Parts: sequence; structure tokens; C-alpha cells
Amino acid sequence: MALVTSKKMFEQAYKNGYAIGAFNVNNMEIVQGITEACKEEKAPVILQVSKGARAYANHTYLIKLVEAAVIECPDIPIVLHLDHGPDFETCKACIDGGFTSVMIDGSAHSFADNIAVTKKVVEYAHDHGVVVEGELGTLAGIEDEVSHAVGSYTRPEEVEEFVLKTGVDSLAIAIGTSHGAYKFKPDQCTRNAQGILVPPELRFDILEEVSKRLPNFPIVLHGSSSVPQDYVKMINENGGKMPDAIGVPEEQLRRAAELSVCKINIDSDLRLAMTGTIRKFFNEHPDKFDPREYLKPARANIKELVRHKLKDVLGCAGKADECK
Ligand code: G3H
Ligand code: 13P
Ligand code: ZN
Repeated sequence: MALVTSKKMFEQAYKNGYAIGAFNVNNMEIVQGITEACKEEKAPVILQVSKGARAYANHTYLIKLVEAAVIECPDIPIVLHLDHGPDFETCKACIDGGFTSVMIDGSAHSFADNIAVTKKVVEYAHDHGVVVEGELGTLAGIEDEVSHAVGSYTRPEEVEEFVLKTGVDSLAIAIGTSHGAYKFKPDQCTRNAQGILVPPELRFDILEEVSKRLPNFPIVLHGSSSVPQDYVKMINENGGKMPDAIGVPEEQLRRAAELSVCKINIDSDLRLAMTGTIRKFFNEHPDKFDPREYLKPARANIKELVRHKLKDVLGCAGKADECK
């Protein structure tokens, strides 16, 4: 099947208490690792591309890689989404260039300016059969080139007006997640019996209040990597330096998926899997220099990581058919 929008996926995900994985892609091995897992697990999927990814890999290469995945995985629905579109022009370029979904990230603007730019993108996108994600509230960390030292939670009292005035199809909200591999400072965490840092709980009260005000409306969670400690350890044991890297506990993401969260964004975990695997390979085989030899296990580990997310966190394994 051809690329699809996320409309049907979100309807099914909302109704049946699961979420669709939105995984960031930059190169062939990442696209292959993700889509091979989705194909085997019969899961719908959103492949997303940031402004930085377009600058790195080039729009055309990314489009062609995703088109190749569509051909190789004919039985699963695949969305091609722009992640953190910074302005109308970038969104328009992606809409004109074959994307089926775009995010306009106006979260750094005032409420009124966020509404204005989001509405403009929605009008253009809807005229071209493309869906739009907006954002209210800011996540700490780096959102492409927009960097926020501290985040600000979404204000539930703003969401109805925002959705009504812009016509967005989904809304990203800030409830305590952040981008990257350092989501919580150690002093924000407690320690469990084994001495492992346990981060504070996400603001489920805000999520619930937003959902009450926007019934049946798909909510998006950014910054949803869990920062697997096995990969942090693998990186650190093989020459890396990532102390105190902490992510969102998977049980909390599962809980969010059972509520109104229909799209969960994961990028950093893929990066950790790829980097950990390659670092280990280099350490164990200092004589090797064929990129295929280290990219192969890296791709395989991305695939297993995504399989785990689909089955154990997102709950969307086996849901491809109902999302078509
Ligand atoms: O939200 C940010 C994504 O992880 C994309 O990151 O801008 O480095 O490609 P990037
Ligand atoms: P992570 O950095 O937690 O993987 O978040 C990715 C993201 O939100 C992309 O938009
Ligand atoms: Zn994001």
C-alpha cells in the first residue's frame, strides 16, 4: 500500500488503548531496522524526519528510502511525518515533497502566534490531503534547533481554543518528558533498593485534564525514549561517557498509551542502540574497517529494540490490518 496519513491509525489507537510508534530516521539502516520489526510484528508505523535529518540526508534520499520501505513492507500502513517543522515554508516543502503528515512546532511562540502559524499550515496541509500535529507547552532539551533549558507544562485551559482555532489533527503536550538521553537530573530522582535512579512520575493529571477537554482527540508525547541502561552501559564500557543518562520508565509510556496518547516519539533510544553496538564492535574488532560489518549488528539491534517497543510498550503489534 502507498504511504498513508495517521487518521485511521489514531482512531484505532484511541479506541483500543494503544499508541503508534513514531521513530526518527536519518539513514538506510535505521529505516530498515524499524520497518523490518514492524513488518514482522504486523504493526502500523510513523517514520519521522526532523529538519536536521533533512539537512543531513537530503529530502530526496529520505523520501526514496521510505518509498523503498513501503515496497518492502506492503502489508503495513506507513506514515511519513515531518518532526518539529519550524515554520510554514518547511512544512510546505514537505507537503509538496510527498510527506503525509507534518508537525508545526510553534511552541516557542506566543499563544496567538502559535495559533496563527499552525492554522496557516493546517489550511495548506488539509488542501493537500496531509494531516497536522501542533504543540502546546515546551519540552526541555533540544527540539532540532530550538533549545529550551527548562520546559513548561501544557496549560489544559488553552487546549480547546487551540484545537478549535487551528483545526489540527493531533496535539503534542508537555507533561514532564524532554528530548535527549538526559531527561532528569539525578537530584530530581529517588533511588530504588538496588540504588538505581527512579525518575519522577509524568504529569498524568495534566494528560487527563487535557483528554477531558478534548474527547476522542489524539494526543502526542515527544521525548519518550526510555534510555535503556544496557545500552548506556555498553557505550560506557566501550569508551563512551554518558553518566546519569535517564529516560522515561516504560510502564508510564504504556499507561499513557492506554489513555489518549496515540503517538509516542522515540529517537534517542535508537541512537543509543546504534552507538552502543558500533562502539562495542570497534572495541572487539580493532582490525575491521568494512562499514557493513558494524552497521549490520547495529541495524539488528535497532530492529530488536523496536520490536520490544511495539510489543511491550506501545501495544500496537498485530494492529496493522485494523489501521488500514
Ligand atoms: O525531537 C528531536 C528529534 O530527536 C530529532 O533530533 O533534530 O537531532 O534530528 P535532531
Ligand atoms: P527522545 O529524545 O526521547 O527520543 O524524543 C524524540 C522526539 O520527541 C522526537 O520528536
Ligand atoms: Zn520531539
